[in-house]
Amino acid sequence: MAVEPDIGSAFPLISDLAARAKRRIPHFAWEYLESGTGLEQALVRNRAALDNVLITPRFMKGDLAPVVSTELFGRRWDAPFGVAPIGLTGLMWPGGELMLARMAREANIPYCLSSFACEGPEEVGPLAGENGWFQLYTVSDAGAEDDIIDRAEAAGFSALIITVDVPVNSTRERQRKAGLGRYSRMSPRQMMQIAARPQWAIATARHGQPSFKTVARYFPGAAMGEIGKLLDRMKLGMTGIAGLERIRKRWKKPLIVKGIMDAGDAEVALGAGVDGIVVSNHGGRQFDAVPAAIDVLPEIAEKVAGRVPVLFDSGVRTGLDLLRALALGADFVLVGRPFLFGTCAFGEPGARLVATVLKDDLVNNMVQAGAQTLADLRSLAVTRAGRAPL
Ligand code: FNR
Repeated sequence: MAVEPDIGSAFPLISDLAARAKRRIPHFAWEYLESGTGLEQALVRNRAALDNVLITPRFMKGDLAPVVSTELFGRRWDAPFGVAPIGLTGLMWPGGELMLARMAREANIPYCLSSFACEGPEEVGPLAGENGWFQLYTVSDAGAEDDIIDRAEAAGFSALIITVDVPVNSTRERQRKAGLGRYSRMSPRQMMQIAARPQWAIATARHGQPSFKTVARYFPGAAMGEIGKLLDRMKLGMTGIAGLERIRKRWKKPLIVKGIMDAGDAEVALGAGVDGIVVSNHGGRQFDAVPAAIDVLPEIAEKVAGRVPVLFDSGVRTGLDLLRALALGADFVLVGRPFLFGTCAFGEPGARLVATVLKDDLVNNMVQAGAQTLADLRSLAVTRAGRAPL
């Protein structure tokens, strides 16, 4: 993965890119991207729990040259991670979806387009090719839902993710304070925030006002500033087993359920015939009492027992975090905010840098730990600080 060397050495950590992103985008966009919900304990818990996963390194194994390419859903990827679906990507950086799709194809990792993105499947599908996955929130209108699925299919997306962990909109107090309320319109304060970020303002003027390209056509009248109204009318997220089974009949390619935090729910999803699950707490954005996603991963992976691939997300910021999740039973990992930090910081080269940083850090830490293959990660000695051995 080719990356401009100067950015790589000046911004070696995802947090370095986050700091630059914060300086380049309006406050309300930053708050949308970075926030959790409530007191943001789930956000903190995700991070703390990952930090608590300790791995005892093994040495004297000679030269190790780890291989990180992997097979998933009948296809080989260059790394065991991909880009998680992020709604309103184009609000945070104009054209961000297009940049991420191109980056993913070049890096040969998946890019999952959100049904709440600012570009539709028709724009992103041809850029992403087989690297494109599509994420859907189920909606009350079955006709609209079918049409969205058919559009994703026609645009060439190779997998469909159904997100089940938004049974109702979350409170997201920080976002409300920043003026992203349920029925908010652009305020003078937000206009000042835009004026303070000229690069974002120019890029937005060039690219055009962000809109919900996938879903807006089914719900005319719900403008960008009225996301709450749109969500209310879509009555999204109440995915029941019958809804999943209906989608399973319509979508023939790999079908994945995202937002599983309980082994029993994993079993329910498997009963509907899905091809994969994502253990995720939505990056701590939905329910503040939720356990850290990494803490529930081992028991869910054990329950699934290889019947379908188990994917993981929520809190990953380094290649070492990828290693931790893979060691604890994940077959593949999704990464959300970091790819947006990179994109907002440097555009497409920033997105490429995130992929490179994560991959290189994974490889380096595999050597540190004494692992040559991804399969070797499963036999590492993993402990959790302050807790009984796993
Ligand atoms: C999300 N996430 C998300 N998930 C989804 O299924 N559909 C969506 O539209 C969105 N939108 C969205 C917006 C923003 C700004 C964020 C930060 C997250 C959740 C996302 O796919 C993923 O689960 C988390 O981002 C993973 O946590 P990290 O990697 O951001 O810590």
